[in-house]
Amino acid sequence: MPKKNDDKKGSIGDRVPTGIQGFDSVISGGLVRNSVNLLSGGPGTGKTIFALQYLINGSRIYGQKGLYISIEESESELKSDLESLGIDLKGLENKLKIAYLPIYEVADFIKFIADQISGFKPERVVIDPVTALSMSMEDDLEKRKVLYELKELLKKSNCTSLLICESGSSSIDSESQSTSQSGVEEFICDGVIMLHHAGIGGDADRAIRVVKMRRTKHVRGPIQIEIEKLGIKVSRRSI
Ligand SMILES: Nc1ncnc2c1ncn2[C@@H]1O[C@H](COP(=O)(O)OP(=O)(O)O)[C@@H](O)[C@H]1O
Ligand SMILES: [Mg+2]
Repeated sequence: MPKKNDDKKGSIGDRVPTGIQGFDSVISGGLVRNSVNLLSGGPGTGKTIFALQYLINGSRIYGQKGLYISIEESESELKSDLESLGIDLKGLENKLKIAYLPIYEVADFIKFIADQISGFKPERVVIDPVTALSMSMEDDLEKRKVLYELKELLKKSNCTSLLICESGSSSIDSESQSTSQSGVEEFICDGVIMLHHAGIGGDADRAIRVVKMRRTKHVRGPIQIEIEKLGIKVSRRSI
């Protein structure tokens, strides 16, 4: 269990710990403060659970407010996901906000996100999945411009962010796999973390890999993870 630190901003030096068991030591103590990080993986690899834990731990352990912009799952669906893992949100009403953004209802989603941030003033932000935003644009240049705009907004707002990215492949063995479908997201982000199905079945089937993280000495190569009661646990076993 990570220790509560006495830094009011909930960061240790320039690091924002995820509080996910075993993961912060993989990335030199946590995400870089004020960075924008891509969390990428195929369906069912644990992206949503990881991202929710990042915000819940942020509020509960580090006293930081978290905003979850959910594009596919409603608040009640997310709460049910958590309940199945024995995680509840009691006591976090003022510290954790889930904003549901059905993509077809919002014309200007950058403004929607900006309004949410200026109203709630979070220190941690998740957008799940950011791929839904970029897929709604056909033109590559427009996609790039909007993602840059989003990155600038998150940085200007002093948030440390996780952008969830649905990748086509979740298998660990394809060297050529892209972390995102459009190929744009990984270039604009400060960090890229991938979740995989290792393809070997059983308890050792799941893995996490830090592909890049600016200003960070991190473990390279896939590391085994498990999803069990209370969420994701990262072991120190390389695959
Ligand atoms: N209560 C649970 N116990 C064990 N594993 C679970 C539980 N809930 C979800 N999972 C695992 O996590 C996966 C879903 O994780 P999720 O974070 O929603 O994936 P993603 O967002 O990457 O699609 C499920 O497919 C299942 O394998
Ligand atoms: Mg998900």
